[in-house]
Amino acid sequence: MNKILVTGGCGYIGVHTIVDLAQNGYEVISVDDNSRSSMDILKGAGEIIGKKIKNYVVDLCNLKETENIFEENKDITGIIHFAAFKAVGESVEKPLMYFENNLTSLVNVLKCAAKYNVPHFVFSSSCTVYGSPDAIPVTEETPQKPAESPYGATKQMGEVIVNATVKSTPIQAILLRYFNPVGAHPSIKIGEIPLGKPANLVPAITQTAIGKWPTMQVWGTDYPTRDGSCLRDYIHICDIAHAHTLALNYLFEKKLKQNPEIFNLGTGDGYTVLEVIHAFEKMSGVKLNYQLGPRRAGDVVAIYANNNKAKSELGWNPQYNLDDMMASAWKWELKLKNESSQGATS
Ligand code: WQD
Repeated sequence: MNKILVTGGCGYIGVHTIVDLAQNGYEVISVDDNSRSSMDILKGAGEIIGKKIKNYVVDLCNLKETENIFEENKDITGIIHFAAFKAVGESVEKPLMYFENNLTSLVNVLKCAAKYNVPHFVFSSSCTVYGSPDAIPVTEETPQKPAESPYGATKQMGEVIVNATVKSTPIQAILLRYFNPVGAHPSIKIGEIPLGKPANLVPAITQTAIGKWPTMQVWGTDYPTRDGSCLRDYIHICDIAHAHTLALNYLFEKKLKQNPEIFNLGTGDGYTVLEVIHAFEKMSGVKLNYQLGPRRAGDVVAIYANNNKAKSELGWNPQYNLDDMMASAWKWELKLKNESSQGATS
């Protein structure tokens, strides 16, 4: 059984990917310093797959501590690297913290992959590397524009670092460019747990609908789109997770046509902010309290994926539609509320 190290394994995408990997025959271990996550989420993952997931609580910016993981697990044959800070707004306020954390951790993990002869590496990239594209949908060959935030710049630089590393080591790599991951596992034993007030659209919708916040803002309704609000490619977290399993299969089966190989992970459909809100209201029956606000700095007007390459090369077929995404996100929010009220009474 191939052993895979998932960095950032207690994060939203990491934990869903751990479940999919385990359900598809991989042995998985996690490393996550829990600076922005909790190991509790691995309990839910363990319940789904029927076994405990080991997590190393290690800061990947500490090379010695990171090496210790590989000393203890000489049989790691693949790495999926999620661990990074990912709040766009915070990255504008604290760019050096983002460059230091996101790039030092990546460099250390790649150093270990080379030193311990780990042959396969999957990098968690993002559609944010395209900046504001001239034409949509974007393909993997769409030229990158300047990143809209330091967070986006760390993803662009991360791709450069992986590119240079695979040319100077035997490592085989895949870059996965996610569009907007949303929703929760159908079991609702795992899902997204934003820290503080959510910046991302879907948790902002569900937390406002559940009453955590009195209202929310629609950031900008004067954009050149069909209803004036920004357009994005929302993709269910389980579809994103399964793409990682397919990417590892692709690497182990030595199908790589170029190193690294890049794949867009989006549905290929774009929805505006207002369309997502209306889809949520229709699915949940909840009237959402939102206000039409000003534009948010750094927002791209519109972007969605051409996902033909992932479909044809990886055999990836997104299973969930926008309603499924809204329904699973809402069920997860209801569960969190139920747990916190039970916690309050117990
Ligand atoms: C989507 C749209 C907002 C909240 C970023 C990163 C991407 C990934 C996901 C990490 C925008 C609007 C949002 C709200 C709103 N990051 N919005 N009211 O900015 O497309 O992508 O997060 O994995 O790499 O770039 O996602 O969900 O923040 O925003 O109107 O309360 O929703 O202005 O138009 P984004 P988002």
